[in-house]
Amino acid sequence: MTVITHLARPFPGQKPGTSGLRKKVQVFQQPGYAETFIQSVFDAIGVEAGSTLVIGGDGRFHNRTVIQQAIRIAAANGYGRVLVGQGGIVSTPAASHVIRKYRASGGLILSASHNPGGPEGDFGIKYNIANGGPAPEAVTEAIYARTQVINRWLAEDSADIDLDAIDVSQVGAMTVEVIDSVADYAALMESVFDFAAIRRAVDAGMTMAFDAMSAVTGPYAVEILERRLGFAPGTVRNGEPLEDFGGHHPDPNLVHAHQLHALMMGPDAPDFGAASDGDGDRNLIIGRGRFVTPSDSLAVLAANAHLAPGYAAGIKGIARSMPTSAAADRVAEALGVPCFETPTGWKFFGTLLDAGKATICGEESAGTGSDHVREKDGLWAVLLWLNVLSVRGQSVDAIVREHWSRFGRNYYARHDYEAIDSAAANALIAEVTAALPALPGRRIGALVVAAADSFSYTDPVDGSTSANQGLRVMFEGGSRVVFRLSGTGTEGATLRVYLEAYEPAGGALDRETGDALSALVAAAEAIAGIVRHTGRAAPDVVT
Ligand code: G6P
Ligand code: ZN
Repeated sequence: MTVITHLARPFPGQKPGTSGLRKKVQVFQQPGYAETFIQSVFDAIGVEAGSTLVIGGDGRFHNRTVIQQAIRIAAANGYGRVLVGQGGIVSTPAASHVIRKYRASGGLILSASHNPGGPEGDFGIKYNIANGGPAPEAVTEAIYARTQVINRWLAEDSADIDLDAIDVSQVGAMTVEVIDSVADYAALMESVFDFAAIRRAVDAGMTMAFDAMSAVTGPYAVEILERRLGFAPGTVRNGEPLEDFGGHHPDPNLVHAHQLHALMMGPDAPDFGAASDGDGDRNLIIGRGRFVTPSDSLAVLAANAHLAPGYAAGIKGIARSMPTSAAADRVAEALGVPCFETPTGWKFFGTLLDAGKATICGEESAGTGSDHVREKDGLWAVLLWLNVLSVRGQSVDAIVREHWSRFGRNYYARHDYEAIDSAAANALIAEVTAALPALPGRRIGALVVAAADSFSYTDPVDGSTSANQGLRVMFEGGSRVVFRLSGTGTEGATLRVYLEAYEPAGGALDRETGDALSALVAAAEAIAGIVRHTGRAAPDVVT
């Protein structure tokens, strides 16, 4: 057993964002870059000798290299055992489950989620804590502080291990177990959902299409949907994980999953369509002829969760990120449970889930999940939908319409202006921030501003506060515009403009989303001068 101390210098900018450290692959390929970051994680958390670490990634280019580096560094830092997914692949929700199931002290998840992969694409490293969830801000801040002063990293002097065989090996004094995370995850899903009811519906003719986008969920989806639930072979499309996701952008939205969308809107649509992202935590839900926005999906799932065995006793509360529509709030009110509004980022749900204050969580960015793990979970959302469809025996469209007729409809869209100049983005935010106090009472077209603020959150469990989490402009009647800069981009800045128009039950519930939001688009421009600041006449992506 030989530990080598490699002298190092800090790399600037190793600051974890919304979801870990995310940079171009070339940045991670710099000698010592990944190593110093991983060492900074271990220094910041203080590794307990002999503890267990989970390591896995979404299979993107550079995954195997960093896994081997991480194993050697973990061994040199005193871990007793590393659990690594076969082929280096573990979906993010499965990693969360493995951390919890095997009582690991934490995990390193190597992913840039829905960002493109390949040598020209993105890579990322995220540390999750013992509850299975992303490290809270106090931990990510400590990691960042450490990256700024680090002067060495430690590594066991050992050869690469075989990541492909389910086996146990030794790296210095540390044991490395290559595990089949698909089996563990599938068993968890079977314990939460009524697989028998879904199988009956499949036998009776229910059909679906699942697009794994050549990313991590392929093996999980084939095992669960085709092998265990009996959907026809071929139900899972693009099911083989590829290092570059086949050159596609593994983001399950209407732009990047356009083939699935076209199928679901066409004459040959199956009953149900779904997709997941690079690391398996996001979901896209489309019924035959009916796209369900992530915000609506959260609300519908929360309202129907009791139909799944894992939630039959009812849910304790709902949590949503601030930019997510208020559709879920109305469900919480009807159920008589609290609804928490948190900053963007799954890490903010962790304390609420641990404390039993919330059972179901969701974000407008296509994330939905529950207290079964501490990450959002793409296949979980798909299976809960399938469970609900099977028990209710109705179409997605019918279920969604019935929901709106009871709660009203939150027309919703997010407009993204990608890779804009950071200085221009900051100027826009600064200007709107300065204008906030004068906005209440202002009339913009037919809209009247009711309130405006910069969102600040105090965690009701641990009391920690996070300020400057997005600018909210609320209008009379329940409509809203939110301005926020993304914390996950790797190029310049991305401005997100979240638009939400509320139509109460009994009102016009069947409008085109674009029409329903046009007054809010105009209001957003009037308030923020988006064209002037960004030089863009239109958003790059509308989701
Ligand atoms: C990741 C995080 C989510 C977050 C999303 C968008 O998927 O896990 O919690 O909502 O990114 O974040 P952004 O900062 O880019 O808006
Ligand atoms: Zn993801």
